[in-house]
Amino acid sequence: MNRGVPAIDRPGDPAFNAGMTSSPRSPILVLGGTGKTGRRIVSRLSERGVPVRVGSRSGTPPFDWEDTATWAPALQGARAAYVSYFPDIAVPGAPEAVAELARIAVQGGTRRLVLLSGRGEEEALRAETELRDSGADWTIVRCSWFNQNFSEDYLRESVLAGEVTLPVSDVPEPFVDAEDIADVAVAALTDDRHIGQLYELTGPRLLTFADAVGEIGAASGRDVRLARVSGEEFAAGLAGHGVPADVISLLRYLFTEVLDGRNANLADGVQRALGRPARDFREFARRAAAGGAWSAA
Ligand SMILES: NC(=O)c1ccc[n+]([C@@H]2O[C@H](COP(=O)([O-])OP(=O)(O)OC[C@H]3O[C@@H](n4cnc5c(N)ncnc54)[C@H](OP(=O)(O)O)[C@@H]3O)[C@@H](O)[C@H]2O)c1
Repeated sequence: MNRGVPAIDRPGDPAFNAGMTSSPRSPILVLGGTGKTGRRIVSRLSERGVPVRVGSRSGTPPFDWEDTATWAPALQGARAAYVSYFPDIAVPGAPEAVAELARIAVQGGTRRLVLLSGRGEEEALRAETELRDSGADWTIVRCSWFNQNFSEDYLRESVLAGEVTLPVSDVPEPFVDAEDIADVAVAALTDDRHIGQLYELTGPRLLTFADAVGEIGAASGRDVRLARVSGEEFAAGLAGHGVPADVISLLRYLFTEVLDGRNANLADGVQRALGRPARDFREFARRAAAGGAWSAA
């Protein structure tokens, strides 16, 4: 066993060759392998002694969604791949990119593909359809909003600043833990029983953004509040901080259109995939606070 020793593969390693895609020694490619979900998947697979290839612009070989020429080399010899699209599965062009990646993967012998998708998003649904139609042995992991957006991504700064400013109403969201997403993805990548399954992942509880911010305040001991603004004010605030127009438009879409109540319901994907309940937001907030997520000045 290779416990705790990262089994990250490299070109030159014998298992890196095409034609070994079903061998236990051939690697699993994790796209977005340095991101919130991907790095947890890399770490879990490595702990099990599964060879892993990190797919990102800093991977070896590098993988870049904006450069199709990098896709086949990254997939070469991989027995399975976790497909996390960047910048977001909800943006125009995502379905076409997923379709092309799946085509290249299946053609090269990487049939087992696990797609990270989003709930209630038109482009995400189209990307899912492309994957299902690709001839791959697919699993779809369709997720609600990640808890870790507050601790490891764009909302962390606002928590530290004491005010999370968003164009949100009181529509509740069943935030999901990236730890659960990683557990489900690893199960899907390593166990054929998950082929052809669509897992809709949510947490076990509906919370408004005000509830979520309140729980973070309680867990961290920080004085932090939610400030509600209009979509226009939100966009103007981001523009004032130099955020690019396409990112502003994506965030506005996610916080207004997608957060209109369509996803205000719980799903049982974690229970179905893993046979246990999903982790609760309160547990996440305690764990993140204890880990120092909101300790920086
Ligand atoms: N956040 C949510 O609440 C939520 C909910 C549902 C679905 N999703 C979906 O989750 C996905 C993001 O997953 P995540 O949150 O785990 O990742 P993440 O934390 O956003 O990290 C982004 C990853 O993508 C890589 N990356 C950046 N630019 C890239 C490029 N041009 N080509 C290839 N890789 C690139 C980054 O690595 P390098 O910088 O090293 O390249 C990093 O590994 C998106 O598709 C999003 O739609 C998110």
